[in-house]
Amino acid sequence: MYYPDELVEEVRMKNDIVDVISGYVRLQKKGANHFGLCPFHNEKSPSFSVSGGKQMYYCFGCGAGGNVFTFIMEYENYSFPEAVKLLADRAGVDLPEIEYSDEVKKKEGKKAKLLEINKEAAKYFYYQLRSGRGERGYRYLLERQLDEETMKKFGLGFASVSSNDLIQYLHSKGYADDLILEAGVASFDEKSGLHDKFWNRVMFPIQDINHRVIGFGGRVMGDAKPKYLNSPETVIFDKSRNLYGLNFARTSRQNHIILCEGYMDVIAMHQSGFTQASASLGTAFTIGQANLLKRYVKEVLLAYDSDGAGTNAALRAIGILKEAGISGRVINMEPYKDPDEFMKNLGAEEFRKRIEKAENSFFFELRMMEREYDLKDPESKTRFHREIAKKLCGFPEEVERENYLEAVAEKYRIGFENLRKLVAAYAAQTGLARPITRPLSGLAERKNTPEENRKKAQRLLITWITDEPEIYPKIAKYIAAEDFTEELYRKVADKLFAGLSKGEFNPAALISMFSDEEEQRQVAALFNTKLEELQTKQEREKALHDIIYTVKRNSYEYYSGRMGADVEALNQVIAGKKALEELSKTHISLDE
Ligand code: UTP
Ligand code: MN
Repeated sequence: MYYPDELVEEVRMKNDIVDVISGYVRLQKKGANHFGLCPFHNEKSPSFSVSGGKQMYYCFGCGAGGNVFTFIMEYENYSFPEAVKLLADRAGVDLPEIEYSDEVKKKEGKKAKLLEINKEAAKYFYYQLRSGRGERGYRYLLERQLDEETMKKFGLGFASVSSNDLIQYLHSKGYADDLILEAGVASFDEKSGLHDKFWNRVMFPIQDINHRVIGFGGRVMGDAKPKYLNSPETVIFDKSRNLYGLNFARTSRQNHIILCEGYMDVIAMHQSGFTQASASLGTAFTIGQANLLKRYVKEVLLAYDSDGAGTNAALRAIGILKEAGISGRVINMEPYKDPDEFMKNLGAEEFRKRIEKAENSFFFELRMMEREYDLKDPESKTRFHREIAKKLCGFPEEVERENYLEAVAEKYRIGFENLRKLVAAYAAQTGLARPITRPLSGLAERKNTPEENRKKAQRLLITWITDEPEIYPKIAKYIAAEDFTEELYRKVADKLFAGLSKGEFNPAALISMFSDEEEQRQVAALFNTKLEELQTKQEREKALHDIIYTVKRNSYEYYSGRMGADVEALNQVIAGKKALEELSKTHISLDE
């Protein structure tokens, strides 16, 4: 952390979360909380809640959540220190200049170091593009009709011809060879030793959703191969869970994201005002990326190349979007190959029309299938209709299936009843599609696995305690931070219980202890699990008892399984057994 904890806490306390968020979102008081339309996903009825008591916000729709710092980070796309700065200014708190002392640097983990190196490299490439050596790159980008503002927004740069410039620069900044290699900006082989990975290429920094540079794509300026060279996967660069341009696209305030194939497509689209454009990172679109998109939108429009490879990639992407529960439509770019070319030739207004006319992904799939049949030949046509019927079996929900059936029958002029019979015949043979059971990340897809049930009990208990901190003294003797077998939960419980046992209760402050936005979301979720509405005191006492018992039993089983692996486990097991026996006989009273 860059500022002292006490100062961060002072800033937080002087910025009431309801006040701050009211400046961005229209809130209405309902019971103990305020509700409004979530600014982080599109919705028609409010599921975004702000709690003055807990000084936290949480969206029951998309899972966004955190304290006042998290909100500013997510809404304004700020880093943690930037959010602290904004709120300090708002409340009139003076902050010291940030000092990067040796000690602070040492404390930051390896990830932070690798991020630093990538950031330095981006700065270096950026500078090179504007120096004499980068002239060729600059000219190339101008030829591709990018303006200065766009190059700046995307931080485009240049890696020069001589091959160890970047490494020398990073050495001068004090970074050692092993870290430079691990950051993905250098390669190593026996013959030439450590050398710059990129040379004589225009450079596209790849950023995560928080604008941190996590890798690069480098393009040759001519026809050499490979056209693009990308950073390898590293500790900070997971190609299946990041998207190019999403750092900007996620705040474009559109109800969809436009997914393209290439870096240049994204850049050309943004330059033309379509800031909702994003692309995968030189690899096929993945379920991890779909889940990331799902945080922000319910609909994705595909603007893939109109050639054969692009069409196949689009068909695969449609399947993945469907699996993630995102609806997909396909933008027709004909007669141009990709969004970049389209923009240059027909411009933004025409593209806007294409967006409006984007084709439903099911019809796109049928249209692509149709090309393989000769509809003038009755036999081929029949086979095509059979394939349509098979595909219609892919809608498990009856209403949706019927709607598609009707639309397809009309479009392809097939008798409705005949098509329906055909579908019924296939359904009888092969069954209707069942929802895919591949494990998905993200809130909505949690399954009832034993693992998930264990976690759920732990989340329920933490939420209950944060809702009613006065119960803590009554249950403290049965439950300890070690009973939370999930690492993040254990950390939170540890801090929470340490405070509560001194009579302090401050869940929002706890969130600031995690500097990673994703962790902040998870902690906020932990404080906002939906508790069942229980009416009578007896019901509530029984529910609380059951939750504690479940958490304790899980913990007992967890440590029993690890006995022999460490001594600590044995102590936990002995204590756990005793507590369980006692708990099963004990009534936990919620009386004052
Ligand atoms: P394209 O060949 O369509 O490139 O590849 P592009 O983005 O349109 O670039 P220009 O317009 O020719 O300059 C699409 C994406 O596939 C990845 C890159 O992410 C690229 O943006 N790719 C392509 C590679 O990673 N390596 C390659 O050699 C080629
Ligand atoms: Mn292109």
